[in-house]
Amino acid sequence: MQTEAHTLIESTTDRRYARCIENSRRVRWDVDRDVFRGREFDFTGHFLPDGLSMVSRLEFLGASDRRLLSQIQGRTYANVFGLVERFINAKVLELSRGYWLGDQVALEALVGFSQEELKHQEMFRRIEKMIGEKMPEGYAFVPNPDEVASVVLGKSTWAVLALTCHIELFVQAHYLESIQPDASVSPLYKDVFLFHWKDESQHAILDELEWTREDRTLTPAERDSAVDDFIALVGAVDGILQAQAAADVSYFRKLAEGSFDAGQVAQLADQVLRAYRWQYILSGAQHPRFLKLLTGMITPAQVERVTKALAPIVG
Ligand SMILES: [Fe+2]
Ligand SMILES: [Fe+2]
Repeated sequence: MQTEAHTLIESTTDRRYARCIENSRRVRWDVDRDVFRGREFDFTGHFLPDGLSMVSRLEFLGASDRRLLSQIQGRTYANVFGLVERFINAKVLELSRGYWLGDQVALEALVGFSQEELKHQEMFRRIEKMIGEKMPEGYAFVPNPDEVASVVLGKSTWAVLALTCHIELFVQAHYLESIQPDASVSPLYKDVFLFHWKDESQHAILDELEWTREDRTLTPAERDSAVDDFIALVGAVDGILQAQAAADVSYFRKLAEGSFDAGQVAQLADQVLRAYRWQYILSGAQHPRFLKLLTGMITPAQVERVTKALAPIVG
């Protein structure tokens, strides 16, 4: 058995697929046994840490309103992952077809990736239900995961993998740099993203392998059009963020203790959108690994096009 497994690992085109399988096996977790453990979310704590929610920048908010805004943003954060995992999983299943015959190690790695994303989606659906039962009526998660996935999957595979790689890199940075070190974050919320991070570490490596593999198959003209697709996808993400930020601010204003003047309402809208753009676009676009991969594949003129497209989002 040992020799057989060893031969299989040796025969794969890239040993990193085998390492992802091994790591995924080592960290495998269960939503109830390891994450929830019969617990509820603690509403006396923040959900999203300040490094991501940026609520402390809204100096006119009292402590309980800051906490409330972090909880609304945290609810949205969990829903956004449930959303992006819909198209990520569909793309991974599509890519796995290339290995049905041939590299069975790469196939196993991608099938594992898909199973993990299905598990994450189930976890995020349950989180939305658990949080929804404790928070007052009126919250709305605006985008529909299947509709968004249909649009995303209509773009070139290179662009979808670029977006996916960017997401799966920033989710790790968020956990390590913001969620894990923040003592004010509710323990269950922290654990959700601890376990999620464990899987995403493998996913980002698989994204990189698949993205660079796809890149090698493209002609310069195809890559140029894929860059346009990527820019369009980032624009579509920004459209979703604008709508969700507006919905979350309006829900927050209904529940908040404070009453706000017109200038403060404008600051709220501006700051929540800034936080969402940081969370879902800029923290990934500025991730050193993502930048290294992207600039290694495209020309300086294409880098310039991407930078120009991001400029209004950077603000
Ligand atoms: Fe995930
Ligand atoms: Fe993932």
